[in-house]
Amino acid sequence: MKHLKLFALLLPAAAGVTWAAQPDDSIQQARLAAAALGKTLKQELVSAMQQGGPVEAIAVCNLKAMPLAAQVSAESGWQVGRTSLRVRNPANTPDDWERAQLEKFQAELDAGEDLASLEATTTETRNGQRIQRYMKAIPVEGPCLACHGSALAPPVRTKLDALYPDDQARGYQLGELRGAFTLEKTLSPDN
Ligand code: HEC
Repeated sequence: MKHLKLFALLLPAAAGVTWAAQPDDSIQQARLAAAALGKTLKQELVSAMQQGGPVEAIAVCNLKAMPLAAQVSAESGWQVGRTSLRVRNPANTPDDWERAQLEKFQAELDAGEDLASLEATTTETRNGQRIQRYMKAIPVEGPCLACHGSALAPPVRTKLDALYPDDQARGYQLGELRGAFTLEKTLSPDN
């Protein structure tokens, strides 16, 4: 349960403010929730890699990514997930809006924009409810290459093959667009 304690310390630190709903800063809240999930996942990954190597660390992504996202969702009021144009887990497949934003991020990156600055937001109506959505681009960094790069160690490849037979999330280079955090929240009627 170490990761939960770590998380409890991390979220307020990442936020630095309360989560009280303020319509005009809801995007700021989404940014903080995305940053909180990103930071927690990265810390979990790096410590699992140090302790047990990349094969052991696969379990962090495989088993913990979803519960950690659920925890950030519960604490922030935003549903938080991850998606990509090339997914490892088919459950992370983008919908139409997400796909369009990921393609836009890729085009912006190709045009020389700083990947760290790429984000998108929209409001849509679904089943009569207004939903606010937010996405933030995720870059490929050094520690990611052990599991998303082009030179995977054979035991890593074997484990990933077993867990994700349709894995498309390999062959990335440093600095490429890996995917995005994707968040949404139902707006209250007066927003
Ligand atoms: C130890 C292996 C490992 C490392 C290191 C790793 N990942 Fe992953 N990654 C995975 C696994 C396994 C999944 C599938 C998780 C799931 O089943 O939801 C995944 C899924 C993802 C997804 C969700 C989209 C998809 O493809 O399903 C993103 C985004 C992602 N990783 C980004 C990163 C980034 C960025 C880094 C570096 C900071 C990183 N990963 C490092 C193993 C790893």
